[in-house]
Amino acid sequence: MTLTARTLARRLQEWRGTGHAYLALANRIGLLITDGGISPGTRLPAERELAAVLGVSRSTVAAAYQELRSGDLIESTRGSGSVARLPRRAIPRPDPFGAELDLSKAAMPALSRLPEAYRAAADALPEALEDPGFDPIGRLDLRTAIADRYTHRGLETSPDQIMVTIGAQHAISLIARTLLHRGDRVLIENPTYSHAIDAFSEVGARMIGVAVDATDGWDELALEQVIGRGTPALAYLMPANHNPTGQSMPTLLLERTLADAATHGTLVVVDETMAELTLDGPNPLPAAVFGPAIMLGSVGKTLWGGIRVGWIRAEAPVIHTLVRARFAGDLGTPVLEQLVVRELLPHFDDILDERIQWLRAGRAHLLDRLARDFPQWQVPPPHGGLTTWVGLGAPVSTQLVIAARSRGLTITAGPRFSMDGAFDRFLRIPYSNPIGHTDAALDVLGEVWDAVTARPGAVAAVDELAAVV
Ligand SMILES: Cc1ncc(COP(=O)(O)O)c(C=O)c1O
Repeated sequence: MTLTARTLARRLQEWRGTGHAYLALANRIGLLITDGGISPGTRLPAERELAAVLGVSRSTVAAAYQELRSGDLIESTRGSGSVARLPRRAIPRPDPFGAELDLSKAAMPALSRLPEAYRAAADALPEALEDPGFDPIGRLDLRTAIADRYTHRGLETSPDQIMVTIGAQHAISLIARTLLHRGDRVLIENPTYSHAIDAFSEVGARMIGVAVDATDGWDELALEQVIGRGTPALAYLMPANHNPTGQSMPTLLLERTLADAATHGTLVVVDETMAELTLDGPNPLPAAVFGPAIMLGSVGKTLWGGIRVGWIRAEAPVIHTLVRARFAGDLGTPVLEQLVVRELLPHFDDILDERIQWLRAGRAHLLDRLARDFPQWQVPPPHGGLTTWVGLGAPVSTQLVIAARSRGLTITAGPRFSMDGAFDRFLRIPYSNPIGHTDAALDVLGEVWDAVTARPGAVAAVDELAAVV
């Protein structure tokens, strides 16, 4: 991609500070690169053009580019201009082997009535025991209940448009390995759900990021340009309660994006895992009401992550393709779990009320504690989902996560939510845990923050960035 001078100027917004213009310009462009607003590999405008649009001298832009070059944030080659880059560094993954305190997962403890639903499912089990017990599309009674739920939410759906999966992650990975070819371009939001990045990387897709900001939402122009000019084979979007920012896409933008994608032959996959967890206001309508999209759902964020039941909603021929491809990886979703979900789906509106109350309380508590203990962090209040996307004010997320691990806390570093290592100034913090757990984890995070920011380089970084942000 090439950034025009006009587009870059628009993204820079208010970049001038009190000090040297070239430094302010370099800092602002550098922040866009490290925070995912400009993806590595993007060509920056020529110095002369940018100078003309910004109303500064060419030498100011040249000095800013030189500053970025020495910070390893752009690479310039004679004849082909300056290209954004991010210094390569190892990004730690959350520790899957049982840390004492875990903030790496965005999920609630099980719904209180879940044991009761498992008992009812066990009572209903004999009706299923006559069959061989595995089938790749899922039980008809559950597919009917899922279809009815979509219809209830405003999207007419029949059971042959539904396939039951082992959670939404299974659905993403099945779609990636079935509908994509090595080298295909995939539009993803930046930041996005980290294991979707894993699934697309695994099949050799080339990802193009479109920035989503926790306050301003989607970069509309980039969305339009990537679909129009990048012609991605697939776009993976979370328009309702986006993970990790909690943003929801305005209906008009969603409608336009789905129409653009249809025009350019881009398959849209909408992940609605969090869509029914809007904390302020009503839940949005299912995305496919506004245009063609394959949709993913799951009970992992509403009933319990341990149930491992999700689904795909698509037109019947797509479902057939996915069902045929499933056999290479697994042969079906466990029956008892399907019966549990079938038990609970008819009561979903009440269940959501209970879960939303839990999340509202968790959010209020987390926002209070962050304001009290970490006043220097920027915490845009999320309106949905299970997490806050916190701005740390300095690129120390990776350091913080590594230091936390040695004190028994696992948490995901900001760069794990990007395909190219951006977002070291950010940390995703969930408010879905029991309050005691959140408090204990924040106590550790506080100690770790003090230790990391006490290092001479880190303090300087905090001060320097505070001056330009
Ligand atoms: C956006 C998103 N999609 C999918 C998943 C995976 O869901 P499941 O537990 O159903 O596999 C998650 C879980 O964190 C998620 O946040």
